[in-house]
Amino acid sequence: MSKKTAQVLPAVDSTAVFKENIFNGKVLFCTGGGSGICKGMTEAVVCRTPNEERLDRLTASAEELSVATGKICLAVQGDVRYPAQLREAVAQTIKKFGRIDFVICGAAGNFLAPISGLSENGFRTVIEIDTLGTYNTIKATIEHLRATKGSYIMVSATLHYRGTPYQIHVSAAKAAVDAASAVLAVEEGPHGVRSNVIAPGPIGGTEGVDRLSTASGSDWGLLSPAGRLGDIRDIANATIFLFSDAASYITGQILPVDGGNMHLGTTQLPYPQAVLDPESVKAEIKSRL
Ligand code: COA
Repeated sequence: MSKKTAQVLPAVDSTAVFKENIFNGKVLFCTGGGSGICKGMTEAVVCRTPNEERLDRLTASAEELSVATGKICLAVQGDVRYPAQLREAVAQTIKKFGRIDFVICGAAGNFLAPISGLSENGFRTVIEIDTLGTYNTIKATIEHLRATKGSYIMVSATLHYRGTPYQIHVSAAKAAVDAASAVLAVEEGPHGVRSNVIAPGPIGGTEGVDRLSTASGSDWGLLSPAGRLGDIRDIANATIFLFSDAASYITGQILPVDGGNMHLGTTQLPYPQAVLDPESVKAEIKSRL
């Protein structure tokens, strides 16, 4: 009998699907845009705007994006846990560009740790970065989003849809982010503001997979209904859609971009071995730090 292989649809570049310049004159404010998923989301939006405006976090990424796209990216160092730093970043953005149309709440912290190996401060730290950081970003930007009738995207996860071992801190933090987006959509909808959540699954080339996953890239092809590991371009394409006018009637929603993985309910760490004997997986986790 011949061996069956997955029918894999590849990730596509946004330029193959979306019209150029659909974000003309728009300004994006992104937290956590220095690397990985958020950098890809920022790049995708920047590529559909004219030759000015927008923002990024780290200077290196901002310069890289500027060179690659010919657009202006303003890098502002800040910690989303501190409202004053966010207000300063927003003030610098407004001073330079005069407006903010899109906000990506993407700054996040993560590491693998069982409850028995996670201190109260470790739990609080992730809640502060993900949940409070998202709230602080909303507070710092909302008046500008009302002015432009703009749109938010929160970067969440799918792991809190079930009990994912070693992720109590992130699960609690992202569940709160999902809830915050829904309230934001309801309260600010009448002011013309939309808010949606993108919930990435395993995405190649990101810390989430490189450092936090115990599966290798080729394993994901076997594990995923989509037959492959996710690509940052998959998240970028969802970002463009949700920010675009094509999604003007979509708000308060959560869009998993995960190749269907959430429906499988598998755990990456061996279960129950990882919770009965954390020492047995310690080397595997540490090797990725
Ligand atoms: N396992 C268990 N606890 C951990 C941990 C791990 N791997 N990493 C951090 N912690 C705990 C620390 O021990 C500390 O608690 P304690 O004071 O009780 O010892 C608490 O978390 C805060 O850690 P600290 O390093 O002081 O906080 P920070 O604000 O400097 O950084 C993170 C926090 C989450 C940003 C940091 O862990 C980190 O740099 N992670 C990698 C980057 C990242 O998360 N990127 C996003 C990927 S999705």
